[in-house]
Amino acid sequence: MNAATDFQHFRAQHIFDVTGKSFVVTGAASGLGEAMAQVLSSNHAHVLLLDKDPSSLKQVHDRLAAAGGQVESQTVDVTNTAELKQHIANFIAKRQGLGGLFANAGVSGGPGFGTELGAVTGGIEAQNPAAWETLFRINLHGVIASMQSAVGIMKDQGRGSLVLTASIAGVKAEPFVSYAYATVKSSVVQLMRQASLELAPFGVRVNAIAPGFIQTNIADRRLHDSATAARLGERVPMGRLGRPDELHGVTLLLASDASSYMTGTLIPVDGGILAL
Ligand SMILES: NC(=O)c1ccc[n+]([C@@H]2O[C@H](COP(=O)([O-])OP(=O)(O)OC[C@H]3O[C@@H](n4cnc5c(N)ncnc54)[C@H](O)[C@@H]3O)[C@@H](O)[C@H]2O)c1
Repeated sequence: MNAATDFQHFRAQHIFDVTGKSFVVTGAASGLGEAMAQVLSSNHAHVLLLDKDPSSLKQVHDRLAAAGGQVESQTVDVTNTAELKQHIANFIAKRQGLGGLFANAGVSGGPGFGTELGAVTGGIEAQNPAAWETLFRINLHGVIASMQSAVGIMKDQGRGSLVLTASIAGVKAEPFVSYAYATVKSSVVQLMRQASLELAPFGVRVNAIAPGFIQTNIADRRLHDSATAARLGERVPMGRLGRPDELHGVTLLLASDASSYMTGTLIPVDGGILAL
């Protein structure tokens, strides 16, 4: 390698390169999933967008395709395991491989016991097993099914990146979110760790992102309410809520070989909350 080639290897375009690689993003029609799909497709990756909301999915698909992105999309609920696996299998067959999968789809499961406006609606006495089951099906079993759809090809390839969207609420107690949400997100963190250990010998990396309060449509758009945003912002060391585009960097990091020696990690993107 001569000095000029060496220099090329230190450039961001090389280190974070995802050109021509293929990725699946669940929950891609809004918020964090949209941001993930956006940065991957803008950097010349092929992306399969999956979401249960057909009209938002079409809008995101059309926007990314109009910007020159190589995207395809399928409407699917991640709790429909058979359909989910079929769509991912079709994409893998067409693309002859898979660089990574972002298991990101999730819902909030209602307010926590300490909403920012003072109403207590989600206390321990109000917990309802049926609501917990729904949340487990989407936020945990949907993640497991997504991982299962990708792990076979990744083991065959001897490489691949599985990225789970966890939450700061899976690490520390958080009164803004529901009991079920916090409990399930802590399971996502442990799921990531277990899978990282199993899959490390195969060259398959498994990591998770722990977003803080990011202004998306989750939780009935409560994070867009200015009073709620202001009260929550006061609890963030950086003094404000995050934007979905502030996940672009971590997405490229985990999708590319820049993270080739990272597995079993939880990466907070939270304005400093977990440092408190
Ligand atoms: N926004 C935050 O502050 C925050 C913080 C921590 C973690 N998260 C996590 O980030 C992930 C993305 O959430 P977001 O904030 O972008 O919310 P969002 O509501 O803006 O987007 C979530 C997307 O997932 C889709 N979805 C929901 N259930 C689905 C299902 N069963 N099958 C397929 N698609 C489904 C929705 O249609 C939507 O397009 C979630 O796992 C959420 O728990 C968000």
